[in-house]
Amino acid sequence: MAMVVEPISQDTPLVALEKVPQHVAIVMDGNGRWAQERGLSRQAGHRAGTENIRRVIETFAAYEVSVLTLFAFSTENWARPKREVNALIRLIGHFIDRELKALHQNGVRLCHLGSLDPLAPDLRRRVEEAVELTKENSRITVNVAFNYGGRKEILDAVRRIIEDGVSPESIDEPLFSSYLTTQGLPDPDLVIRTAGEVRLSNFLLWQSAYAEYYATDVYWPDFDGEEIAQALLAYSQRQRRFGGVVEEKTGQNHHPGRGSAP
Ligand code: FPP
Repeated sequence: MAMVVEPISQDTPLVALEKVPQHVAIVMDGNGRWAQERGLSRQAGHRAGTENIRRVIETFAAYEVSVLTLFAFSTENWARPKREVNALIRLIGHFIDRELKALHQNGVRLCHLGSLDPLAPDLRRRVEEAVELTKENSRITVNVAFNYGGRKEILDAVRRIIEDGVSPESIDEPLFSSYLTTQGLPDPDLVIRTAGEVRLSNFLLWQSAYAEYYATDVYWPDFDGEEIAQALLAYSQRQRRFGGVVEEKTGQNHHPGRGSAP
């Protein structure tokens, strides 16, 4: 059954979708180039990128996407100039100050993926309070991946499995997934990357094994409702096979382990 979403704002077009992803994960790239093209500082680009986040969350929520994961800062981003790193860290605080109330009122559950350890205690506390305040919300879950790296997440899971004394024969995919920070959430169905790059950059490595990938040339601050509709339309037209085959007559998708795919 096709889903038709009414326009929720001027820049969110009416679009008929055969299927909507449950979990969308986004590598928000191109803040620097967006700023450079306007003769602005990279920090100004990150500010514009942050301002775009609320509209993106609202639009995905309107399409009934239930989980949105945003890659805000990778474990590799510490290598950037100190000034830029500090500006990105400050933006987390500003984002909470400016957006938390509205996000909470709009039913957004905020979660954090990664390690908060390097943050100042005050900022860490504000992030933890935002997570606590919104934990019962159920309209959409928004994971902010900050100081996150997929390989580190996998290594941390391995360490904890060993610490817990789990026997080798009881290690299977559901058990391993339960040791990841995304524990309990569905895997991403769609991974989007803005600004023309076609890399995964250590993002949700385990979880994205069967995700559909979508890249757009648009810079993150310009990633608007029209762009979201295009990404969802492209996803809606993909045939997911999970390593299986699609039978021509029925269009049914078979996978040895999963049965019919969505
Ligand atoms: C990539 O653009 C973007 C980032 C490394 C940071 C993304 C962060 C935000 C949008 C703001 C912080 C997020 C929250 C949740 C408050 P780039 O700088 O690599 O761009 P470039 O490739 O054009 O240089």
